[in-house]
Amino acid sequence: MFYAKKLGGLSSAIPCVCLWRMSFEYPIPDEPRAVCYHATGNPGEVLRYEAQPCAAPADDEVLVLLEMAVVHPSDLGMIGGTYGRLRPLPAVAGREATGRVARAGAAVRSLKVGDRVRMPEAAGAWREAVVAKAGELLRVPGDLPAEQACMSFINPPTALLLLREFVPLSGGDWVVQNAANSAVGECVVQLARAAGLRTANLVRSPEKHAGRLKALGADAVFADDKDAVKALAGLARDNPPRLALNSVGGLSAITLMRALGDDGVLVTFGGMTADAIRFPTREFIFKNVTCRGFWMDRWGRTARADALHSVYEEIHACLRSGKLQMAVDSVFPLAGYSEAVARAAAYGRAGKVLLSGPAFSA
Ligand SMILES: NC(=O)c1ccc[n+]([C@@H]2O[C@H](COP(=O)([O-])OP(=O)(O)OC[C@H]3O[C@@H](n4cnc5c(N)ncnc54)[C@H](OP(=O)(O)O)[C@@H]3O)[C@@H](O)[C@H]2O)c1
Repeated sequence: MFYAKKLGGLSSAIPCVCLWRMSFEYPIPDEPRAVCYHATGNPGEVLRYEAQPCAAPADDEVLVLLEMAVVHPSDLGMIGGTYGRLRPLPAVAGREATGRVARAGAAVRSLKVGDRVRMPEAAGAWREAVVAKAGELLRVPGDLPAEQACMSFINPPTALLLLREFVPLSGGDWVVQNAANSAVGECVVQLARAAGLRTANLVRSPEKHAGRLKALGADAVFADDKDAVKALAGLARDNPPRLALNSVGGLSAITLMRALGDDGVLVTFGGMTADAIRFPTREFIFKNVTCRGFWMDRWGRTARADALHSVYEEIHACLRSGKLQMAVDSVFPLAGYSEAVARAAAYGRAGKVLLSGPAFSA
């Protein structure tokens, strides 16, 4: 992992036009800024770093300063106009981030200055500051490392629910997945291992990723190529996988379906190749394979609030105990968003790209 501000002085190279004054714990920018877009399109062309003034919090509100945000493929899809849910324009980019409460309204009892919360997603998370109703914010354990806490709301819950919601599995059962070195994939490996399940994992560069995946608990790692069907078939003849997790599409999804045993379920939750999924006729007819889809966003909107909160609590407990750890490739200050976005879209990353805000202390 590298911190851009430590390496190249990226943050100090950015002209700072605002005066800073100290709050109780964090410097509150006089003119907070955000990464905005006025039209959907190529992030390199449409993103702007603009002032987003914040009013003083009302009695039931808090002012939250950005601690750390994540750059996801879905952020790029949202900015590009291809994601499942788009924001009214102009919009602030970003979905997942934590912040720290820097000021609390007179009537706020549930939060105090210094508490860590999830930045509200709908308002856009790549912003230095936001004012929100205290009662609508999710409180997040302050003892977790900022880099892990900020990544805890989308990918780890997705991995947990993929393992739980589709096929009843028990100890020793195999789960097969592609893009296993993705953040979701690494969470699947670790949560499966913790549940006594075994994982067979496909990646584009096994020479690069097998060591780390095995250290995280992967049972097998193969190249996602034409030989993968044979490699997977040889692995679990007596107990073939009944759950396959696809975030790639195209030929890779066909490979996963071929690895499934009778009544197996292929769950698609991402489409990194943007290739359509084609269905192998034999698997449909002779193995009764089912294809399903999963979207955390929809699950979160339709689940009971206590179900969502208990998923978050479970993930935070796994992060605290070390059962789960997520890789960080690099950290850029928010103003370095364009380098961060380019890095997130680059081949060969080793973890997530993060953006740090005024409430982050390295
Ligand atoms: N449905 C949901 O609710 C939900 C929730 C979370 C995530 N997702 C989706 O899950 C996927 C993974 O997300 P993430 O945040 O975990 O990703 P990530 O950590 O950013 O990793 C991206 C992964 O995609 C692979 N990849 C990129 N381009 C590819 C291509 N053209 N062909 C094959 N593989 C390619 C990368 O492999 P290399 O390392 O080889 O480049 C890497 O394994 C994304 O599609 C994301 O949108 C969906």
